[in-house]
Amino acid sequence: MNRLAVQLNRLQLANPILVASGTFGYAREAQAYIDFATLGGIIPKTITPQPRIGNPPPRTIETSSGLLNSIGLDNDGLEQFIEKHLDYLLSLNTSIIANIAGRNVDDFKQMAARLNEFDGLAALELNISCPNVSGGVDFGTNPKLAAEVVGSVRDACSLPVIAKLTPNVTSVVEIAAAAAEAGADAVSLVNTFQGMAVDWRRRKPILGGVLGGLSGPAIKPLALRIVWQVAQAVDIPIIGVGGIACIDDVMQFIVAGATAVQIGTANFYNPGIANQLVGELSEIVEEQGCTHISELTGSLQT
Ligand code: SIN
Repeated sequence: MNRLAVQLNRLQLANPILVASGTFGYAREAQAYIDFATLGGIIPKTITPQPRIGNPPPRTIETSSGLLNSIGLDNDGLEQFIEKHLDYLLSLNTSIIANIAGRNVDDFKQMAARLNEFDGLAALELNISCPNVSGGVDFGTNPKLAAEVVGSVRDACSLPVIAKLTPNVTSVVEIAAAAAEAGADAVSLVNTFQGMAVDWRRRKPILGGVLGGLSGPAIKPLALRIVWQVAQAVDIPIIGVGGIACIDDVMQFIVAGATAVQIGTANFYNPGIANQLVGELSEIVEEQGCTHISELTGSLQT
């Protein structure tokens, strides 16, 4: 038995360690550093129906224990993704979860239907939470719209559906409940926290897009809090994401209620970290006297 295999409704992963969208390119960039086959899965950079040039530079700035980005969903669009990257990704012997974003419900629906034509994708992750494009978070801040996107994608394809939610709302629980009700197989919690950096001498914002999304260790306690709150209130598998940088971070998210996790910002300074974490996770399950990782999931006592 594979003691790390996890099931998130219709999505099965060999282990709970995924790499987060936007931190791993389309995987080719990381091939010198990592054995893809050991990963639970790869989530490539968000794709949109049409190419996007993204936001003006500077697009990233390091902050105390964090990274602010204002990329603006720079990508070559769905058809280029299919032409240039899909075959390569599907050859990697790990689960590939395509991350998609659209300007309206119909965009999501059409992208889901198009990707459904290809064998081998493990799931779709719906980016309804990007803080860096106009309209990017609209679906993720309104439970009705979130449910509409999830429901339409479910109708348009047979792939498992993951909704990636924004923390920039009063209650992520409410949005997660709406996504679950509409048929999401899982929710990714959470995308970046909206933030800002200022060059006060020039009286200018540092990022070309003015505002950005904060990720990295600075947000870990916030993401962990949200994972725990949603796990208490909504019956849906959770993929935890936000500042995870070592095995203790992984375990904190798992005991708080995450079935799987995504490694994001840490990939930028240690592109092999996800491999290392899979090995360490296996050792921890054994050390804890468990036969399966699920014995630890949500085991936090308050
Ligand atoms: C971006 O491309 O601006 C970041 C992606 C995201 O936050 O969803």
